[in-house]
Amino acid sequence: MDTRGFEFDTELEQAPISRAKLPDCCAVVIFGATGDLSKRKLVPALYNLALDGALPRRFAVLGVSRTVLPADGFRAELRASTERFSRTRPLDDKVWEAFARRIETCPGSLDDLASFERVRETLEKVDRDHGTCGNRLYYFATPPKHFAQTLGNLRDAGLLADPRAAERWTRVIIEKPFGRDLASARELNRIATDILDESQIYRIDHYLGKETVQNILVFRFGNAIFEQMWNRRSVDHVQITAAEEIGIERRGKFYDETGVMRDFVQNHLLQVLALCAMEQPVSFRADDIRDEKAKVLRSLRPIAESDVVSHVVRGQYQGYRSEDGVSPDSITPTFVAMKAFVDNWRWQGVPFYIRAGKSLHKRITEVSFHFHPVPFCLFGRDEVCQLLQPNVLTLRIQPDEGIFLRFNTKVPGDDLSVSAVRMDFNYARAFERPAQDAYERLLLDCMRGDATLFSRKDSVELAWSFVDPILETWERSASDIAGPLAVYEPGSQGPVEADRFIGVDGRRWDPIR
Ligand code: BG6
Repeated sequence: MDTRGFEFDTELEQAPISRAKLPDCCAVVIFGATGDLSKRKLVPALYNLALDGALPRRFAVLGVSRTVLPADGFRAELRASTERFSRTRPLDDKVWEAFARRIETCPGSLDDLASFERVRETLEKVDRDHGTCGNRLYYFATPPKHFAQTLGNLRDAGLLADPRAAERWTRVIIEKPFGRDLASARELNRIATDILDESQIYRIDHYLGKETVQNILVFRFGNAIFEQMWNRRSVDHVQITAAEEIGIERRGKFYDETGVMRDFVQNHLLQVLALCAMEQPVSFRADDIRDEKAKVLRSLRPIAESDVVSHVVRGQYQGYRSEDGVSPDSITPTFVAMKAFVDNWRWQGVPFYIRAGKSLHKRITEVSFHFHPVPFCLFGRDEVCQLLQPNVLTLRIQPDEGIFLRFNTKVPGDDLSVSAVRMDFNYARAFERPAQDAYERLLLDCMRGDATLFSRKDSVELAWSFVDPILETWERSASDIAGPLAVYEPGSQGPVEADRFIGVDGRRWDPIR
């Protein structure tokens, strides 16, 4: 037994069940290289991979954007932003210098074929200078309206490798939001699959790269005891919460056109729901897992216009309308609370309550399984038993990553008193090893050609078909049908309407604390 409170089988802990493949030599081309995503997430992730020695030995980054500086200036800019946003700080000078030498730039506009021809020439030079073998990872870190055109220009400039060719590969990472509704997602999928093979398309949802989200499958399918209670017979309801303390920061215009449902629910939270609710896959291979997730999304009970008011609450934080880039009469929701049902044998009748919002009390993402109360009262009067709190199993995705189980126990003493206590597994304490950032894992997986943690065409479309009728109702119908837009105070637990909404079912939200 070690001091961390767990007994590890050291041999098992040290010998991975399956080893991740080594990433291939390649050039990562970032379209939108001077944007926020590139500076806050992508370059810091690549630097941390360099620090861990995880990048391929023959590797380069090519930054493309209209305003990108020549390489030296861009490297200096990136050093400053990476110093701010890197998971590990201060930067290691030697590692940074070696990494920065592999960063090149090419100014260019996404709507201009000549720019792509320059990208091609620059990449040929990059291959010669850095030995990147003709393998290309194109990262679309641009606003979604450019995705289709960028794909077309890549094709027309001869920048895509034949998917059947063994000697070199092309992979494209497409950022979210993938479309803004079902029709546009379908259209983008159509364009993408006309130009590329599905095996070359990596639709990124960074939630799937989080260790704790990946652990949902290991926890469920690596522990036989939980399987027996993972269904409607034991589970009363499930709560999925993604609360953020931050507001919309400098993304007013983007957010006002997007809103919480497109920004968070359609992708991150429905993917988490699918992992929690899916059946056991045939194997851990990408498509076997993705098949099971798709079945869950297909089983989501549609919320028709007439159900929106009873199944969904939308909210907006006070002061949102005066944020930069936001319309003064905006009705874009920054908060949503909703009830979904997975219509299959396992989950029939079990509500999945989903809640997400900006400017709330604290940053917390978690899924909690609330079990049925005890069926028979042993301890005297019924009222006593009603005070017993049902068991709750919480998968804490972030922060304080871990898993908690709430159960009742006798309070020491002559009297019989019962109290709820918490059994606690905490990642950081148990493993004493920092978790990789989601972007690190996903970039590396794409360089390895492993699409397990990326969203497949069908699941993106299925998720849109679920949220589309709600969005349409909000955007087109009067508030007696769509429900009012509830206002909440920044830093609060969300609008009181959300408490009433779950209260009608005789349940309460887990506090955000
Ligand atoms: C992004 C959303 O996808 O996820 C942002 O666009 C949100 O609005 C972010 O803040 C949250 O990510 P994380 O990893 O901090 O939970």
